[in-house]
Amino acid sequence: MNYRMEPIKSVRGVRDIHYPESEIYSGIEKTCSEILEAWGYRKIYLPVMEFSELFKRSIGDETDIVSKEMYTFSDRKGRSLSLRPEGTASAVRAMIEGNFLQGRVREKVYYAGPMFRYERPQEGRYRQFHQIGCEVFGSSSPASDAELASVAFELLKACRVSGYTLKINSVGCPGCRPFYRDEIQKFLRGREQEICADCRKRGVNNPLRVLDCKNSRCREAYKDIPSISKYLCGECREYYARYKTLIVDRGIDFSEDESLVRGLDYYTGPVFELEAEGGVIAAGGRYDSLVKELGGPETPACGWAFGLERLSLSSGITARRLPEVYIALMPGGGVKYASKVAERIRAEGISVEEDYEEVSPKKKLRMADRKNAAYAVLIGGEETEGGFLQLRDLSGGGQSRVSEDDLVEELYKYKEGRENK
Ligand code: HAM
Repeated sequence: MNYRMEPIKSVRGVRDIHYPESEIYSGIEKTCSEILEAWGYRKIYLPVMEFSELFKRSIGDETDIVSKEMYTFSDRKGRSLSLRPEGTASAVRAMIEGNFLQGRVREKVYYAGPMFRYERPQEGRYRQFHQIGCEVFGSSSPASDAELASVAFELLKACRVSGYTLKINSVGCPGCRPFYRDEIQKFLRGREQEICADCRKRGVNNPLRVLDCKNSRCREAYKDIPSISKYLCGECREYYARYKTLIVDRGIDFSEDESLVRGLDYYTGPVFELEAEGGVIAAGGRYDSLVKELGGPETPACGWAFGLERLSLSSGITARRLPEVYIALMPGGGVKYASKVAERIRAEGISVEEDYEEVSPKKKLRMADRKNAAYAVLIGGEETEGGFLQLRDLSGGGQSRVSEDDLVEELYKYKEGRENK
């Protein structure tokens, strides 16, 4: 019987990232790592799965992330595990478990990798997405929160993101937030019919979350909702004021948004979101109670995470041309000689692909075109014997006969000619 197997598709919201997008992603990741390392952050590789309990205790049982969006399953021994929906909880767990937070330490770490949330997929929102995040442990100074803003801005500049806005707020601490929660609950009482079903639930379980509901009826109903700034305790108010002064000192523009409450429960104090073309591309804030709540020593902390997909939608970083040079071995050409030529080009940091297939020269040049290479180096029998080659500009810029020793110089001349066109 002759039948075709149905190809297996990828899971909805879980994408393959092919070139050239993959090359843009790795370019962004490299840029971010260099910047974070220049600011003293050390890389940490975190596991993609954890005990579900970790996320329940840190992000919060009642948040959308934990209650609706986690990929949770039982392992073979019946333990509940979840794919990580974010990196902060794992970073805190790892720092406690690795004993990095004993004594009055200051530790700065960063991580990158896939995160998983069962959200409705759309452009810039996926079920598997990637974050680059950093966390600062052991500093209770608003100067650290402000420094985090500078690092994020440097990253935006390096990734050539333009047209972004920074929104900030303070969500208060466990001391003052309960008063604000009560106030919101009072406000919602009697308005149940004017708001969406989700907000009715939030009103009971997590009242602050009603503030960032996108439903237009809810937005209308919350026009006169009490603002959090009036409920901040003296310490939170002073901290927030110092934070704002410090970011102004760093020359960073921002706007205050009292409806900014974040979808994770661990924040205590200043929080922020960075918006650009790709939507909210980064977010973070201070979370001074989390280390203790997860069984570690009292350690103030703050951090942020960029979403790689959204960053790339807003970034002007383009893919590096790979390969730049295509070596096409023509009939009679020597493999050993072609490899030697390739080696000399690669030593210049230029990407080279060698094609040894026994196909017609026409097919080889078609393949070089398909690969989007800028130049082809053609090596046949005559070239191999004479120690020379043919260098061709694939954008129609001509072809020259070049000796092996002059190849690199000639290639640079070609490149210069292209750049000046
Ligand atoms: P978050 O706001 O949940 O914060 O996520 C940070 C960023 O991840 C978002 O601004 C967005 O760019 C990206 N992101 C989130 N969900 C998706 C999705 N479904 N698809 C594509 N991108 C997405 C956190 O995760 C905190 N851990 C940030 C933090 C670090 N706070 C302190 N330290």
